[in-house]
Amino acid sequence: TASAESPVGTFSLVVVSNRLPVDHEDGPEAPDGTATDVWRTSPGGLVTALEPLMRSSGGAWVGWPGVADRSFEPFTNDGINIVPVRLSAEELEEYYEGFSNDTLWPLYHDVIAAPAFHRETWEAYVTVNKRFAAAAAASAALGATVWVHDYQLQLVPRMLREARPDLVIGFFNHIPFPPYGIYAQLPWRKQILHGLLGADVIGFQRLADAGNFSRAVRRLYGYPTRGVVIDVPTSEGQGRSGATRRVIAKHFPISIDAVAYEEMARRPEIQARARQIREDLGNPKTLMLGVDRLDYTKGIGHRIKAFGELLADKRLNVEDVTLVQVASPSRERVETYKALRDEIELAVGRLNGDFSTISHTAISYHHHGYPREEMVALYLAADVMLVTALRDGMNLVAKEYVAVRFDGDGVLVLSEFAGAADELKQAILINPHDIEGTKDAIERAVVMPKRERTRRMRALRKKVFDNDVAAWSASFLRTLTGGAAVQAGIPQS
Ligand code: F6P
Repeated sequence: TASAESPVGTFSLVVVSNRLPVDHEDGPEAPDGTATDVWRTSPGGLVTALEPLMRSSGGAWVGWPGVADRSFEPFTNDGINIVPVRLSAEELEEYYEGFSNDTLWPLYHDVIAAPAFHRETWEAYVTVNKRFAAAAAASAALGATVWVHDYQLQLVPRMLREARPDLVIGFFNHIPFPPYGIYAQLPWRKQILHGLLGADVIGFQRLADAGNFSRAVRRLYGYPTRGVVIDVPTSEGQGRSGATRRVIAKHFPISIDAVAYEEMARRPEIQARARQIREDLGNPKTLMLGVDRLDYTKGIGHRIKAFGELLADKRLNVEDVTLVQVASPSRERVETYKALRDEIELAVGRLNGDFSTISHTAISYHHHGYPREEMVALYLAADVMLVTALRDGMNLVAKEYVAVRFDGDGVLVLSEFAGAADELKQAILINPHDIEGTKDAIERAVVMPKRERTRRMRALRKKVFDNDVAAWSASFLRTLTGGAAVQAGIPQS
């Protein structure tokens, strides 16, 4: 039953994520002088992954509309029911830029950058998580399924369970979950685990992430774990050898709508655009591509270093090879990201200064986000795709590249530290910290014979099409609703 004080909503599926699939922008002034609203697709893999499910399910999507201090009534955008959550400028600074992206993000990505630990930003994280939990509770019908997403909202599952024990609650972590030795640094490590354990199913990208989580639960709470099952004492059972709830912690590697990407790639105007891109770049023999949010986890600097050395060593020639690097703006108010931008742009400028000629630019660098159509044209145009992340939950760019290459051509160079490497084994796998190894891999990709390219791409495509995003969400939701039914004593067919 729902507790008496919490309102009950109408949606039988509610998705909760920090960012909505659309960000608000002020549109042009209407003739009567009032401001108009423009909604643009927001960045990141989470949105790409969840959009198809939300369009087909008629559920509600609870999240932040991308701007501070603005309230918006729920609305429908492109077939998706949107429930905006208001955040103040101060909350954004402390909860989003601070605790989420200056503490949890670097901590969960192997401390590539140093995480900051501040008590005030933790307080803001708790406050904002409460607001998201309340908004989700107010949208969810009795007995509804609520699916909470990502590291910004790890306290929401517990808060929801306390407010609405009638709900079936899932959580999916889109980023890595760190090994215990790193996780243990977090001053609020027990509170975060307690928050997550409010869910019935906790999903991770990789087997190793789920293992790290279960290990942290054993070390910090001593709860018994058997495979993917964790027995969590209910509040009544606390301290006694009494009642427990079954929580499942398991990996569900996320994916993309592969068919939609291929369909886009088959459009004549997108193929024409791909040809145009190559032509505009002076028709290089080999076009290499990097596509990332401008984030220190992505190994953009390592990639540029390897490319620069290949040019310096004359193993590659600027007349033959161009690297297009799309670095979409991200978290620009966080200091580490500001510093990274300076570092990358300095490296790009130096490399171009050293190696570009009047007719051939070594790196064509773009600090922009582009519409999906343009990304697909770039993927089609690229002979070699470079994914050199130092740590990445999944990396959907790798899967998008594969889905687009219906021509069976193109070579994917993929970091073993991206979740995608667990599945995409026929890529050229690299350790991006090993610059020599990365250079060898890039050179190998450039000279790879057509037969080998085709053989590898065929195998990669099978993986991506067999395990698309519909299979991902169906598998998670099946585990979630099946698990809840077991909990409630409902027999499974
Ligand atoms: O999956 C990681 C993630 O942080 C998502 O939660 C997020 O929406 C996306 O990357 C983009 O980051 P941000 O929302 O901070 O711009």
